[in-house]
Amino acid sequence: MTTERLGTQANPERQALAATSIRSMLDHQVSSGAFIAAREFPPYHYSWLRDGSFIAFALDLAGEREAAERFHRWVATAIARIAPAVREATERRLMGQENVAAEMPPARFALDGSVTLDDWPNFQIDGYGTWLWSLCHHVGCWDAGPLAGELAESAELAGRYLEAVGQDPCFDCWEESGTDVHTSTLACVYGGLAAASVLTGSTHARRKAEEVADNIASRVSNGGTFAKSSAHAGVDASLLWLAVPFGAVEVQDPVMAATASAIEEGLALDGGIRRYKEDTYYGGGAWPLLTAWLGWYRASQGDLEAARRCASEVERRYDSAGRLPEQVGGETRDPTDYLLWVGRWGEPAADLTWSHAMYFVLWDQLNKRAPDPPPGGDSTRRPAGAPHPPKQATMQATPQPRRGPTEKEGSE
Ligand code: BGC
Repeated sequence: MTTERLGTQANPERQALAATSIRSMLDHQVSSGAFIAAREFPPYHYSWLRDGSFIAFALDLAGEREAAERFHRWVATAIARIAPAVREATERRLMGQENVAAEMPPARFALDGSVTLDDWPNFQIDGYGTWLWSLCHHVGCWDAGPLAGELAESAELAGRYLEAVGQDPCFDCWEESGTDVHTSTLACVYGGLAAASVLTGSTHARRKAEEVADNIASRVSNGGTFAKSSAHAGVDASLLWLAVPFGAVEVQDPVMAATASAIEEGLALDGGIRRYKEDTYYGGGAWPLLTAWLGWYRASQGDLEAARRCASEVERRYDSAGRLPEQVGGETRDPTDYLLWVGRWGEPAADLTWSHAMYFVLWDQLNKRAPDPPPGGDSTRRPAGAPHPPKQATMQATPQPRRGPTEKEGSE
């Protein structure tokens, strides 16, 4: 079904990998609706709001409406189960009190939607923003108003939580540095608040989104790029999220462009992109999902050549079983830290569901903007029968932010 939907592509290898990634995402969905982050890597036998929301987004682009909907229902139920904790965290902050890290809503849930009690740094705000953004995309994509109505209570809860807590220090999207404010987390909060204003009609959420956008705009380092965090002036590949998909900053914004170049130059490893310079997790290798993100950004700028290079780099990371890893190259870049993590958790995740999602998003971008030229020729036409997914998907992907929908800028 999925493969048929992909239609006829000029580049059959690329099409086959896109189909592999869709299959993999679907295979990683369990009966509850949760996406398991990495089946073969026990520490990731959970469902993260962050990973899952991007996976659901990719599946919407792939036309897999039901799978995405099941995920959103699962999230809404998981949030409903912790509603008292979400309310308490929100109210505590509105009353001017400090956050209590151990009591904040979690970043990841067990596959059945329950909260796990462990020492994982769970206070990460980004996932709640990313979920609202992804839900809003889904609703716009499929005109799923009734679903939005059904999930409204959890969406409102998440939106109010973001309004109260969204600009506070917390652990970042890499689950690190819990005392800092992270610029890419702010972008997720921006995307979530903009989505909340669309989903719930809240003008307060809209105003808060504007405030967060201003906060982001002020986080420029002396080097003329956005700063990774309040404590780190350098770049982090997740800063690409400011532009795509969240649209807190325009794709063509000069500081954004300088940030992307700094990421491309400063975080490159053997053709791929690392998370940030000092990364030591499994030796701090290159993450295919971030290489795909850079490609997404380049495609949004209209630089399809650069985007295709990113796609090719990700493509060579699939193994013969169609698995796409979390990261590559850490073992040679920093053998000591690599081995330290192997001793702790075993070999790094060889098949990460989120990696598949981001490859598919890039594939979809390339395909929509200009399909691959056939060998020896040039084609700017969409191939007959090419991907099915609702055409309005990308257009409605990001709730219309003040600074303009980023995905469509550049080439179209
Ligand atoms: C990453 C997170 C991710 C999680 C599951 C962690 O190593 O830092 O961003 O959500 O793995 O994929």
